[in-house]
Amino acid sequence: MTPAYQLILAPLRGVTIRTFRAVFAPLIRGAGFTEAVTPFITAAPGYDPLKDRETAGGPGEGGILVTPQFIGKDPKALRHCLERVKAAGFSTADLNCGCPFPMVRNKGRGSGLLRTPDVLVRMVETGCEVMGDGNFSVKARLGIDSPGELLSLMPILNGYPLRFLAVHARTARQMYEGECDRGAFDEVLAVARMKVVFNGDARTGERIAGVAGVMVGRSFIRALGERVDIEEWLGKYAEASARELCGERPVLGRLKELLSYWKDLPAWRRRWQVAKLARNLRELQIA
Ligand SMILES: Cc1cc2nc3c(=O)[nH]c(=O)nc-3n(C[C@H](O)[C@H](O)[C@H](O)COP(=O)(O)O)c2cc1C
Repeated sequence: MTPAYQLILAPLRGVTIRTFRAVFAPLIRGAGFTEAVTPFITAAPGYDPLKDRETAGGPGEGGILVTPQFIGKDPKALRHCLERVKAAGFSTADLNCGCPFPMVRNKGRGSGLLRTPDVLVRMVETGCEVMGDGNFSVKARLGIDSPGELLSLMPILNGYPLRFLAVHARTARQMYEGECDRGAFDEVLAVARMKVVFNGDARTGERIAGVAGVMVGRSFIRALGERVDIEEWLGKYAEASARELCGERPVLGRLKELLSYWKDLPAWRRRWQVAKLARNLRELQIA
């Protein structure tokens, strides 16, 4: 059952990946998360999402609902992907309308969907049809250049039985920096007929009036670096990653990706300087 106020783990490609979610599940649950949206899976023709690592843990990893997120602009490919995950037991799915990278958005994917309403509609229609009413969600930016772009699409989105609309309260141009625009977010919230989830620099305990929940990414990851027992967890993550990946290099890369979130924490500032240069896991451990 979905709680009245949801705390959702944000998709962070390279960080909140399946192995991370599996290893850190007790801490994710302990922080109050009830759901995790996966980093995006490409909804491309011929791609089998069940071969993607992100779906390998199934829909209920460690007591947390896993919602696979798809990125793309081909409704037929999306339909195929959704039918596959639904058959494998996933009851929810999400559409990425937020990826800000020019390579992605200029091709009409991610936040680029905000500029092609006809394609967006067909993607949302497909999602709601395959997953069923109230089971398909959208994660979007406020816009690409202007924070009013999503607002102007609300009359269209309001016509679909979405599970929720998660809004990262920045434009794509802002990437991941600069202030979130709470005013523009409130304008979307005021006209939304579906549940709205706030995203952008939020913290796990944050309560925002009028929304159905918050989606939290980086602040949760940063807070992990402050735990006194974090090295134990890192050890488990390294072991699980070594079982999954081939060779030491990708494991090292994965660990550094996580450690990079802690580089400004007092306990890690100096350690990070050494850790980032580590050439193997032994050097990383020494750091
Ligand atoms: C490294 C990184 C990877 C991300 N990957 C995804 C992704 O795969 N799908 C998505 O919708 N958003 C992705 N995002 C955006 C986050 O889900 C979230 O919207 C953003 O970080 C703001 O929330 P936060 O301040 O709580 O982290 C990513 C962000 C970062 C920093």
